[in-house]
Amino acid sequence: MSQKPTYITVPSESTGGLIEAGLEAVKRPQPHWYIVDKFFQQDQPIDWVSDAANEGRVFWLQAGEASKSLACTEKVLDWLVKRGAKRDEIVGVIGGGSVLDLGLFAASIYQRGLEKWSIPTTLLATVDAGIGGKNGVNFLGLKNYIGTIIQPDVVLSDYRILETLNAVDVLNGWMEMIKHGLIADSELWQRMKSFESIPRPQSMHALIDAAAAVKKRLVQSDEREKGLRKSLNFGHTVGHALESVAAAQKKDLPHGIAVGLGMVCSLHWSANRTSDDTNRNDLIEAANRIRHWLLLEAPEQVKSTLESSELKALWSCMQMDKKNNAQGVQEVALTKIGHAAWNQHLSFTEFANSWSSAHGTL
Ligand SMILES: NC(=O)c1ccc[n+]([C@@H]2O[C@H](COP(=O)([O-])OP(=O)(O)OC[C@H]3O[C@@H](n4cnc5c(N)ncnc54)[C@H](O)[C@@H]3O)[C@@H](O)[C@H]2O)c1
Repeated sequence: MSQKPTYITVPSESTGGLIEAGLEAVKRPQPHWYIVDKFFQQDQPIDWVSDAANEGRVFWLQAGEASKSLACTEKVLDWLVKRGAKRDEIVGVIGGGSVLDLGLFAASIYQRGLEKWSIPTTLLATVDAGIGGKNGVNFLGLKNYIGTIIQPDVVLSDYRILETLNAVDVLNGWMEMIKHGLIADSELWQRMKSFESIPRPQSMHALIDAAAAVKKRLVQSDEREKGLRKSLNFGHTVGHALESVAAAQKKDLPHGIAVGLGMVCSLHWSANRTSDDTNRNDLIEAANRIRHWLLLEAPEQVKSTLESSELKALWSCMQMDKKNNAQGVQEVALTKIGHAAWNQHLSFTEFANSWSSAHGTL
């Protein structure tokens, strides 16, 4: 890997201010500039950020896909220029995946790149988006189309900050954690599957550690996504197609529901490909468990998404997926729990069959 970030997690028993103990633990000069999710401007659970804000060193950024644009990146760059940010100064980016994607991108290109710290505040960002160095924005309606792969210098997590997340944002993170277990850590999956309902973040610190460790390991061995890192796309080809169809219908579809439904479909496809009965049963059991959590958390939204997602509309989105090659749609399959195979060709007939066995009964 081009450069190894320093990973710091604030101990859960810490009694100091959120994130603060982690800043000190890095034992290096601290960020001078901050790009921070606007959410923290109102609630201010991170006390020390308001001090930096009073000194004009914080750019407050609205979270969400609409902000992930070149126009918004330009606003951040403009702010850095006008404030006189120097090449030897550090930028700390604090927020969920959308704020980190944009903020770390801006810090990566300003004066050809400043030192930058990734400080995730959502469950999804803590186990996934905040790790791995993929920074960027959406372009011409295409998700994450412009960007860089440049590792942050520091990844600093404080799980106590996750306690204010709403149920949907916990679901979004939980689904990515499930994915990490299914593709690369069967023990993590075994621990997670025993939960009847999705626990609150304060009750799952050990699981968060394990899920983040999977992402760190995959990025460490394949930073440029030539092979192994592709397994992180498990469930995402169908998931992104569901998101695109929902967006075209002007419907809001949380990422966790889209990826959850995508993983259920890919698990059925994977089960159809194996000749080993035990593996097949394990894969179908995983699909049923994910369906259970989705229906528990968001029954109406799951049903309406399935009703309004035409198979052919999904397939045309899948044909536009940026992971495809000359052979067509490429998907990640599981050979068994904890083992993924990437660059697997998926035909329309296979997709239609696995979609109907996965979701036909809902
Ligand atoms: N770079 C990568 O490798 C990578 C990987 C996965 C996802 N992503 C990107 O991540 C984004 C999704 O990230 P996300 O799910 O974190 O969404 P997000 O950044 O939009 O945050 C979701 C919501 O949570 C709020 N929030 C943030 N921290 C909070 C806290 N501690 N308490 C309460 N509310 C809080 C935000 O204000 C926002 O309303 C997508 O744009 C996706 O493309 C990137």
